Amino acid sequence: MLLPTETVYGLGADASNPAAVAAIFEAKGRPRFNPLIAHVHDAETAARIAALDDRALALAAAFWPGPLTIVAPVRDTAAVCDLARAGLDTVAIRVPGHPLSRAVLAAFGGPVVAPSANRSGRPSPTTFDDAVAETGDKAAVALDGGPCAVGLESTVVAVLDGPVRLLRPGAVTRAQLEAVVGPLAEADNDARRSPGRLALHYAPDAPVRIEAAAPEPGEAFLAFGDWPAGEGVFNLSPSGDLAEAAANLFAFLRAADRAKPAGIAVAPIPDEGLGEAINDRLRRAAGFIG
Ligand code: TXA
Ligand code: MG
Repeated sequence: MLLPTETVYGLGADASNPAAVAAIFEAKGRPRFNPLIAHVHDAETAARIAALDDRALALAAAFWPGPLTIVAPVRDTAAVCDLARAGLDTVAIRVPGHPLSRAVLAAFGGPVVAPSANRSGRPSPTTFDDAVAETGDKAAVALDGGPCAVGLESTVVAVLDGPVRLLRPGAVTRAQLEAVVGPLAEADNDARRSPGRLALHYAPDAPVRIEAAAPEPGEAFLAFGDWPAGEGVFNLSPSGDLAEAAANLFAFLRAADRAKPAGIAVAPIPDEGLGEAINDRLRRAAGFIG
């Protein structure tokens, strides 16, 4: 099922059904070592599936429903099957905020795994049309929830032994997290703890050049702030607003790519607040390990 969330469109399936979960990996061309996020309707359901300690519960109270994913020890290994967890003894879980996904999860009752609905390695779809173009032919049902308000994937944190660890910067910022649980630890390079952090990710067909002061001839340009309009120019936020830039990022990467430019140059984005997640996605789209 194509499932709209407030972050990006997901490709959803019953988390307890290995055949349905296998079909999701297949549709995305996703490596099986990369586990999926289980989406549930509320924190009580989450707490039955994952062992949420006081810090996890505080994060859940602060940010759910919303764009935060918590990785915690798994409690119910049948509800989110081994394949969905890539065999790990942890599970990634979140309560999304979009009314359509909430209605689906409330009606279904159990957890729904939903990776971003792009084919593996490509930018996440943030509009219904982009989602249909990526994996719509593989979905039995496609729900149109309009454009995604946030436009960047959820923040992923691990709440295991030791300090809370930031595995993927996202829509909930570092400062927002630290206000609840104190200083975060960085993700280490232990592939088991952050298995999805592949170097080339979120990539359009055209090569992406980041921190660009101006486009070269033949390049499309993703501007930020004051920049003259023109052919091949997509301004992420003329007023320099990071939330607006996040919401536009993937849709504009795709739009720029459609004209088959020699490359896509992207203006520097301040590395504060939501800018940390935007720059993470851009470094990966450009092929740099973040
Ligand atoms: O905003 C989002 O999170 C979207 C919407 C659809 O909810 N979903 C999404 O899913 O971005 P996906 O599969 O594209 O990204 C899930 C990330 C991957 O980086 C994966 O490696 C990580 O979560 N992950 C999942 N389970 C994990 C686990 N047990 N331990 C560590 N990382 C995990
Ligand atoms: Mg993804």
